[in-house]
Amino acid sequence: MSSTTKTAPIPLSRKPREAVEPGAKTACIRTFGCQMNVHDSDRIRRMIQDAGYAEVQRYEDADLVILNTCYVRENAVDRVRGHLGELNRLRREGRVKRVALTGCIGAAEESAALRQTYDIDLVLGTHNTYELAEFVGLPTMRETYTPELPGTEGGHSAFVTIMTGCNYQCSYCIVPTVRGRMICRPMESVIGEVENLVAGGTGYVTLLGQTVDAWRHEGKRFCDLLEAVSESAPRVWFTTSHPSNMEDRTLRAIGERDSIVKRLHLPVQSGSDRMLKVMHRGYKAERYRRKIEVFREAAPDGTLSTDIIVGHPGETEEDHEQTLRLVEDCAFDSAYIFKFSPRQGTEAASLPGTVPDSIVQRRFLEVLRQVEQNAFSRNQRKIGNEEEIYIRHGSTEDGKAIGETWSGHAVHVHTDAAPGDYVRARIESAGPHVLYAGEVDTSA
Ligand code: 5AD
Ligand code: SF4
Repeated sequence: MSSTTKTAPIPLSRKPREAVEPGAKTACIRTFGCQMNVHDSDRIRRMIQDAGYAEVQRYEDADLVILNTCYVRENAVDRVRGHLGELNRLRREGRVKRVALTGCIGAAEESAALRQTYDIDLVLGTHNTYELAEFVGLPTMRETYTPELPGTEGGHSAFVTIMTGCNYQCSYCIVPTVRGRMICRPMESVIGEVENLVAGGTGYVTLLGQTVDAWRHEGKRFCDLLEAVSESAPRVWFTTSHPSNMEDRTLRAIGERDSIVKRLHLPVQSGSDRMLKVMHRGYKAERYRRKIEVFREAAPDGTLSTDIIVGHPGETEEDHEQTLRLVEDCAFDSAYIFKFSPRQGTEAASLPGTVPDSIVQRRFLEVLRQVEQNAFSRNQRKIGNEEEIYIRHGSTEDGKAIGETWSGHAVHVHTDAAPGDYVRARIESAGPHVLYAGEVDTSA
């Protein structure tokens, strides 16, 4: 629940396929940013494995380092600069041979400046990842970027891209510039991939896209796709949604369909109609509140999360108060709160009314406090419930695994069950971010 949680490098979702043989070429992939990038990294991973590279976890063990980057806020770029600085040093010592920069920074003009400062051998955007194939010695692929390229395979859970790009033009957002306009993947192609994944043992499918609920294809809408997927996969979730596209029908389907996790991520950005207009979000706070009412009615026990930006140019104290009010009314179970970060090339970067840092910081903390209070009291209500828990990450040394309830709550649970397994346990305590379960019920 902070401005930093979304941009930290994401640990590898899977271990390297094989131990590194002496003399083998090695590559290390670091992923920054959203789940879309995690998914793109999976594709990159397959490419380098096909080219005969063994994957390693540390830069100093890698011949080739691939930084798959995020450009959505400046702190994401700062982090990448830090990594590039370290890579320059390792190169001087001869411990890393080549560096490739991919993802959203690669698609932005910023990459030219980074290239002048750091040793980077290859820069790729989001639409020409296939050029990496040539770089790693595979026959050149001629496809352009399309959501049809299958993603993760064989894992207990998998992402399935249903659309790429975004047709909105939010004042602050660089995504439409670096990811392009929306392309929707045909329904048969999505269902085909889901069926293959499920046949291969995947038990949890997450439908992925910048605005998944804007998905449309040959007269079908997102809810049709979600319903079809929920019939093929045992457990389904989707992210991210846009309030202007979210249909009540979809919200009701979340509540009605057993295989859909009752968890909704619906970014609101601000509670002030004035700011929502400046941001070009296309809805008013009242409409957002109504959507949330429908969701809470459909899935009373479900979890709701959001994204909020504080300190967008022109945000007044009154606007901020309205955000606090909306946070209280919607009682979010969690929120990603971001301090506005000007992105060159977006409208907001040149708007007047910069909010001083000290005020942004105070507003950030006020929103955070409000979110945490609500989340804490909602989580407390789960205590005593016996829950079916899907294990997302197996237990660490302390014996604690991380799981997810059907209501979408994160749970720490003592079990040696493997990722993808289900266990039953009673919730014994709760913090603002996670629930803690007691002994696993082995009688079930
Ligand atoms: N500054 C701060 N936050 C931003 N986001 C997108 N662009 C910016 C920006 N320039 C946030 C939005 C979006 C989330 C992924 O990142 O809240 O929903
Ligand atoms: Fe960015 Fe707005 Fe598109 Fe979301 S809907 S990706 S915030 S432009």
